[in-house]
Amino acid sequence: MAPTSLAGILITAMAFLSCLRPESWDPCVQVVPNITYQCMDQALNRIPDNIPTSAKILDLSFNPLKHLSRRSFSNFSELQVLDLSRCEIKIIEDDAYQGLHNLCVLILTGNPIQSLALGAFSGLSSLQKLVAVEINLEYLEDFPIGHLKTLKELNVAHNSIKSLKLPDYFASLHNLEHLDLSNNQIQNIHHKDLKVLHQVPLLKLSVDLSLNPIEIIEPGAFREIKLHELTMRSNFNSKDVMKTCIQGLAGLKTDRLVLGEYKNERNVEKFDKFVLEGLCNLTIEEFHVAHFDYFSENTIDSFNCLANVSAISLVSLNLDDPSYFLNNFRGQQLKLVNCRSNVFPQLRHLPLKKFVYTENKGVSTFQNIELPNLEFLDLSNNGLSFKQCCSHIHLGTNKLMHLDMSFNDVINIGKNFLGLEKLEYLDFQHSTLKGINQFSVFLPLKNLYYLDISYTHTHVDFYGIFSGLISLQVLKMAGNSFQDNNLPNIFTELANLTFLDLSKCQLQQISLKAFNSTPRLQLLNMSHNNFMLLDTLPYKLLYSLQVLDYSFNHIVASKGQELQHLPNIVSLNLTRNEFACSCEHQSFLQWVKDQQQLFVEVENMLCTTPLYMQGMPLLSFRNTTCGMSKTAIGVSVFMVLMVSVVVFLIYKFYFHLMLLAGCKKYHRGGSTYDAFVIYSSQDEDWVRNELVKNLEEGVPRFQLCLHYRDFIPGVAIAANIIQEGFHKSRKVIVVVSRHFIQSRWCIFEYEIAQTWQFLSSRAGIIFIILQKIEKSLLRQQVELYRLLNRNTYLEWEDNALGRHIFWRRLKKALLDGKPWNPEETEDSENNHQEATTSN
Ligand SMILES: *[C@@H]1O[C@H](CO)[C@@H](O)[C@H](O)[C@H]1NC(C)=O
Ligand SMILES: *[C@@H]1O[C@H](CO)[C@@H](O)[C@H](O)[C@H]1NC(C)=O
Ligand SMILES: *[C@@H]1O[C@H](CO)[C@@H](O)[C@H](O)[C@H]1NC(C)=O
Ligand SMILES: *[C@@H]1O[C@H](CO)[C@@H](O)[C@H](O)[C@H]1NC(C)=O
Ligand SMILES: *[C@@H]1O[C@H](CO)[C@@H](O)[C@H](O)[C@H]1NC(C)=O
Ligand SMILES: *[C@@H]1O[C@H](CO)[C@@H](O)[C@H](O)[C@H]1NC(C)=O
Ligand SMILES: *[C@@H]1O[C@H](CO)[C@@H](O)[C@H](O)[C@H]1NC(C)=O
Ligand SMILES: *[C@@H]1O[C@H](CO)[C@@H](O)[C@H](O)[C@H]1NC(C)=O
Repeated sequence: MAPTSLAGILITAMAFLSCLRPESWDPCVQVVPNITYQCMDQALNRIPDNIPTSAKILDLSFNPLKHLSRRSFSNFSELQVLDLSRCEIKIIEDDAYQGLHNLCVLILTGNPIQSLALGAFSGLSSLQKLVAVEINLEYLEDFPIGHLKTLKELNVAHNSIKSLKLPDYFASLHNLEHLDLSNNQIQNIHHKDLKVLHQVPLLKLSVDLSLNPIEIIEPGAFREIKLHELTMRSNFNSKDVMKTCIQGLAGLKTDRLVLGEYKNERNVEKFDKFVLEGLCNLTIEEFHVAHFDYFSENTIDSFNCLANVSAISLVSLNLDDPSYFLNNFRGQQLKLVNCRSNVFPQLRHLPLKKFVYTENKGVSTFQNIELPNLEFLDLSNNGLSFKQCCSHIHLGTNKLMHLDMSFNDVINIGKNFLGLEKLEYLDFQHSTLKGINQFSVFLPLKNLYYLDISYTHTHVDFYGIFSGLISLQVLKMAGNSFQDNNLPNIFTELANLTFLDLSKCQLQQISLKAFNSTPRLQLLNMSHNNFMLLDTLPYKLLYSLQVLDYSFNHIVASKGQELQHLPNIVSLNLTRNEFACSCEHQSFLQWVKDQQQLFVEVENMLCTTPLYMQGMPLLSFRNTTCGMSKTAIGVSVFMVLMVSVVVFLIYKFYFHLMLLAGCKKYHRGGSTYDAFVIYSSQDEDWVRNELVKNLEEGVPRFQLCLHYRDFIPGVAIAANIIQEGFHKSRKVIVVVSRHFIQSRWCIFEYEIAQTWQFLSSRAGIIFIILQKIEKSLLRQQVELYRLLNRNTYLEWEDNALGRHIFWRRLKKALLDGKPWNPEETEDSENNHQEATTSN
């Protein structure tokens, strides 16, 4: 097959496989089995088959569905939420959603709808929220939703709607609470547009008209109309248009009016006192203003019209000094959020009950206020410092119940809340508290039930710190520290405490009596501390304790009392500790296993020691070996080790031991050499490099007789062989190779040796077969062949293991020659033992 055609087939096959993908593999994410499915952006053109009919929440957004025909979803009658955002839907046929009796939320955002059948939404008998943002809608009259009597929220923002004319069907949308018409093309609002609201008042309705380019509001258009909320942000391109339009709102009654702009949509460049004068003819409960750039002293008068308003929120404004226009305010609630000003508002003698001043910029120091009716004060997130805190002198009230000073700078506690005895809620978190250890600062706060001093850089070394807080139920003090990292007995008066957060406090120990007076405690958070042992003894009186969080500590095990002191516990979080999964702690480990249902993520409680259990679940600990006594295990392990060491040493130094055993007599024999080596000169390399090296330089040391160096020069060769070779050597090593058999000289040497062997009756020939030799060649030397068959011989093998065995056997054979007197052989065994023991 040509390579090109092969490549062609491969490419076709791969293309085929990749086409298969959307159908054969599951495109959706099952978020909650049988309930929630997420199929976003999967190039689907219909609902995938594998979505079960029990599905309640289905996200099909960003799929090219294009066309919704009749009963497209009828198989999914349980659906409650259906998201069809940006599905390129152009056509929705009659009864497209038929069968979705339970659908509450339908999202159609971003579909370029061209054809919407009159019965498109029929069958949606429970629909509460319809999001039809950016669907090319021009006329509300054309939107076939009149029968959706359950509808609470209709969002048709970001369309091309030109008129606020509310169609007659609004009269039947009794439940409508929120109508979002923002970001459309509405320019003029006429009296007749809101006729339906005159006929059938929708008292709960909030209308958002923001981001419409409104030019004219016909005076009286809103007369006698009551709305819950009207929002008009970034509607006007100049202050004059704004002024006339606000006048046009005359007669409107609303709980909340929201005016202003958006951060990135600024049109009204200047603001003066006349802009808001129309507000005098409105009835407003709460007034909200956001994002007006220029808003200062000359607007004071406009706030005169807000005298009867009960709540004002000023969000993201530039205010030189807010007190200028606020000092006439007679309402009860004031919010200043994210505003920039130069001074802390000098609020005096206002009837305010609630003052929220958060996330403001430009002011660094708190100034005393005087608000005798104030009950709720939120000063959080301003980065303020407080030179003195806190008493009725600083806050100018005796009625304060809620005080939030969190996320500020340094707060000096100089006064112990004198005159603020009504306080119930106090939050200092993430501010730096100074002076809290000097005296019992909370002493008069008999009504306080909530106290948060988390992350206030508090180092507790004063035991009276919480004295007087007899009603306290919630105490949060994470991220602080204690003297000696020991939790002292500081909760003595907190008899009603139910929630205590002591996480991240570097704690290592708990004083035994710390919780003796808090019998109602239900939740105790000890996570992220430095505890090494789980000690439940201090909790023995906490009969109400249900949740105990000891995660992120260094707990190895418990102190052994375990559950007996936590009788009513429901949830125990011991994840992320450093458990020792060893027999020493088996009762703790067994307890965890027995009480699994109590533990949070018990399968994620992991062992840290011993090393071989590291990272394994604590539950995988097996106690089978724990029965044996420790000493038994220790001794047997030691024995096994010792035996192995001895065996190893004997194996390694076998010849050294042999040598020691027989060393005294070793040289007594008459022989000068241990062996005379007969070999072919062709094998001289092997003899020099292997044989001589291993035998003459190894242990024990052997002396070989080699003709190339040991024969006496000048003496006849035969004489040399006999005198030097045979007579002075105990053994004869014959290196048999192909060369040896072919060399006559070797044959000669060998024959002499044989004769000599018989004569001296010493069993001393060692054959070494250097290379495999064919039998036919060997048979030419009948005698040698016979001898080889009769005697054992050594075969040379050129690999690590083979060599090792070869040399051991050869050395053994050489030693075996009984060089000393034959009758001493019997003693060699004893000598051997002596040598070992004396060593
Ligand atoms: C999902 O539904 C199938 C069929 O109705 C059922 O067998 C299965 O147990 C359900 N799974 C869950 C998690 O409820
Ligand atoms: C509904 O389910 C039936 C049977 O499972 C199937 O034949 C039909 O095509 C499905 N209808 C839709 C609109 O998916
Ligand atoms: C608004 O109130 C002023 C008096 O404060 C009055 O002169 C004016 O006619 C009122 N305008 C409307 C439209 O009611
Ligand atoms: C405030 O209410 C009082 C009494 O209800 C009324 O007389 C006064 O005109 C109102 N002021 C404004 C600005 O609406
Ligand atoms: C403690 O709580 C109980 C019940 O919630 C209540 O009856 C009692 O008055 C409280 N004690 C104090 C000192 O607030
Ligand atoms: C305990 O505090 C840590 C951090 O401070 C927090 O993550 C954890 O949720 C708290 N535990 C409980 C049970 O509230
Ligand atoms: C410990 O477990 C509880 C219960 O699940 C959980 O609320 C808490 O956040 C956990 N603690 C931490 C530090 O995650
Ligand atoms: C080991 O665990 C089993 C239960 O799994 C228990 O019955 C047995 O007593 C334990 N053995 C030891 C030695 O603790």
